[in-house]
Amino acid sequence: MPFTEPVLLKRINADPAKRKLHFYDDYVATGGYKGLEAALQMAPADIIKTTIDSGLRGRGGAGFSAGQKWSFIPKEKRGPHYLCVNADESEPGTFKDRYLIDYDPHQMLEGIAIACIATQCDIAYIFIRGEYHRQAKVLEHAIKEAYEHGIFGPQGIKGSATKLECYVHKGAGAYICGEETGLLEALEGKRGWPRNKPPFPAIAGAFAKPTVINNVETLAAVPHIIERGPIEGPRWFKSMGTPSSPGPKLYGMSGHVNSPGVYEDELGITLEHAIKLAGGMKGGAYKASICGGISMGVLGTNQLDIKLDFDDVRFRGGCLGLGTAGMIVMNEHTDMVLALRNCVRFYAHESCGQCTPCREGSAWMRKILDRIVDGGGRAQDLEMLLELEKTMGIMPGTTICGLADGTAWATRTFINKFYDEFAAKCPETPVPQFSLKRGSLNVLQPMGSNTR
Ligand SMILES: Cc1cc2nc3c(=O)[nH]c(=O)nc-3n(C[C@H](O)[C@H](O)[C@H](O)COP(=O)(O)O)c2cc1C
Ligand code: SF4
Repeated sequence: MPFTEPVLLKRINADPAKRKLHFYDDYVATGGYKGLEAALQMAPADIIKTTIDSGLRGRGGAGFSAGQKWSFIPKEKRGPHYLCVNADESEPGTFKDRYLIDYDPHQMLEGIAIACIATQCDIAYIFIRGEYHRQAKVLEHAIKEAYEHGIFGPQGIKGSATKLECYVHKGAGAYICGEETGLLEALEGKRGWPRNKPPFPAIAGAFAKPTVINNVETLAAVPHIIERGPIEGPRWFKSMGTPSSPGPKLYGMSGHVNSPGVYEDELGITLEHAIKLAGGMKGGAYKASICGGISMGVLGTNQLDIKLDFDDVRFRGGCLGLGTAGMIVMNEHTDMVLALRNCVRFYAHESCGQCTPCREGSAWMRKILDRIVDGGGRAQDLEMLLELEKTMGIMPGTTICGLADGTAWATRTFINKFYDEFAAKCPETPVPQFSLKRGSLNVLQPMGSNTR
């Protein structure tokens, strides 16, 4: 059975004029909290097994199996366990979690309660992006309702032995706090600097206790699986998507499309199909698309047939992965040099500064790209950019977190897939008077200016 009807968006009307926020009564009236009822009849190990069997992979970027992640939490309790919900959503091009919170907050709260039963968590913290003021208020109201209806609070979930508290924690606007260990540091009241791993959060996470970290969309998918039970739940979930990337997925469509917005379909639809969902191209023919937030890189002009799942985007599409499936679609009039400069400027600004290759590398990249954009590009600049991108990231093993890999993959894919466009701005014989013109610009300034 392919994807026939909305799952995560079933309560959210496709027509913006008819959309409304569903609070507790609406949620229950439309079948909500049935997954939680089912979970309360199951042993924690069975909830984990059902989730593993479903093949649900994290929707926050890395695509790690949700059930397996839960299975790493120690079974024997020696103190509190925590669940941190990653609602930081700062990846450019990504706005799907906001949409879920905006209109259907209890879906995620139900997922939280089920995940906490499975992993014996005592407290759930929802770490929400600082700019999401409205969404934080919506959540606080929904959480209050959940306390009033016996889901959270000292009486135990619906009178059961599992007691669960839930709090909203607002971020202060740093992209790096979306990285799970940066998030934990910020939650603990410190500077959001990612931690070296191991230890992994499942063993020593928030306040050095076992901690699960999951994305909003991942948790929102959980009740739908558990509600259907240990056999039918995984079977139903796997009937959508591809064998290695099952289930429904939210696609955040923006850029040069006629109807930007959040669309739901199964994993593995083609890029071409995703653009159709968003009303087709606007202002010109298709040229490129960022595929999963800018950290994953860009899909090229001849890649409309790439399947949007965790494998095809990577192996055939040449990107880092599907990421968040936040697509920024670009038409034929887009200047790819300017687009990359914009991405790299973001990374240089958001690098937390702990690792030299990320801090200095992203700053150098930005300065080289500034020079190219300003008309002073030289042939060796492209070689330099491609050499820099190879040196940074967890993959070459030089940084603590994946922010640097995002910088590298954006740079690599933009330049390799649109080489001629970059080369045209980096001639063998540079513009002679350029060095004079550049004297006033910051390319010659000392490095480290983005170290905070
Ligand atoms: C620089 C950086 C930023 C990230 N930002 C987010 C984010 O905003 N939201 C999110 O869910 N995951 C983000 N992630 C991924 C998280 O580290 C983590 O993998 C995810 O929250 C796990 O949840 P999941 O398994 O449910 O996907 C980011 C990772 C990196 C390296
Ligand atoms: S890779 Fe960059 S953002 Fe990540 S810890 Fe190192 S300096 Fe900070």
